[in-house]
Amino acid sequence: MKTDRSDILACLRNSEDYVSGQQLCDRLGVSRTAVWKVINQLKEEGYQIESVSRKGYRLVESPGDVYSRSEILSRLHTKWAGQNLHFFEETGSTNPDAKRFAEEGEPHGTTVVAERQTAGRGRRGRSWESPAGKSVYFTIVVRPKFAPDKASMITLVTALAVAEAIQEVTGLQAGIKWPNDIVVNGKKVVGILTELSMTPEMNEIQFMVAGVGVNVNHESAEEFPEEIRETATSLKIESGRHISRAELLERILTRFEEVYEEFERTLSLSGLKARYESRLAGKDSGVRVLDPAGEYTGISRGITETGELIVERENGETVLVYAGEVSVRGLYGYV
Ligand code: BTN
Repeated sequence: MKTDRSDILACLRNSEDYVSGQQLCDRLGVSRTAVWKVINQLKEEGYQIESVSRKGYRLVESPGDVYSRSEILSRLHTKWAGQNLHFFEETGSTNPDAKRFAEEGEPHGTTVVAERQTAGRGRRGRSWESPAGKSVYFTIVVRPKFAPDKASMITLVTALAVAEAIQEVTGLQAGIKWPNDIVVNGKKVVGILTELSMTPEMNEIQFMVAGVGVNVNHESAEEFPEEIRETATSLKIESGRHISRAELLERILTRFEEVYEEFERTLSLSGLKARYESRLAGKDSGVRVLDPAGEYTGISRGITETGELIVERENGETVLVYAGEVSVRGLYGYV
């Protein structure tokens, strides 16, 4: 499913020494001319590739923050997550794109990435501002083999994978604001929007899509829409350094595959609960549960193996809060 371009880039990236033109032809089953053309294209894009006669090619340096299908695929070593990758410079929203590809039969793990979205969607019918250049916007398709009552756990699986990947790449302590947001230093860096499509008989999941938006290289809060300026931040603002979006996305997809497979093994969060709870923002502190049937406060105590938030109310009663129904806030702010 990879193109020759990303394959050639991957061969160069994974080899410390020179790779001969012949080796590239043999490995990829393409002609010398095809290899030569791709190498030239890559050079034009800013990849510094050294060519030495009788030795071959060597990747000396990749250009700054290249964010393209080839760059992402050449880094990716997953079995299924992101291997069928669509990359759009511009699209309305990657969630409907992913749903369309899934409906057309594209496989588990199909991923749609956009540089810019013109109709980015948030939860509760809100929009998600999606300008080019600084963020990661992507949606991954999964074809679960479980009953619809387990579907909401996919949001938690996604959040855990993304939070772990962020920490791995940036060193920042990434917390999860159950169930949909990832926070760093009390501010939101990631939003997740999961959607479900049922079979026509409405008894099985046909596929699910998990859409993820990460604020990556914004320099200051002024770059966010006014309504979220107080509560949003970016990985660059918090870490003080520029983050490669291709590297981050590769890490997220790799983590996603691992976390998803662990979830699939037991069809519960049993193997992931400890990892999840260690990142759960506001654990053992006060939360306000914005339940449409009536708000209440309590202490957040963790999650169950099926993904509900455990809240201990002031009257001693323990309530299990289901994702989807309600919003949870810290008592003294967003987290
Ligand atoms: C939220 O916090 O409200 C969820 C935001 C989800 C944004 C992502 S960006 C990629 C995907 N495409 C969309 O239109 N939305 C999700």
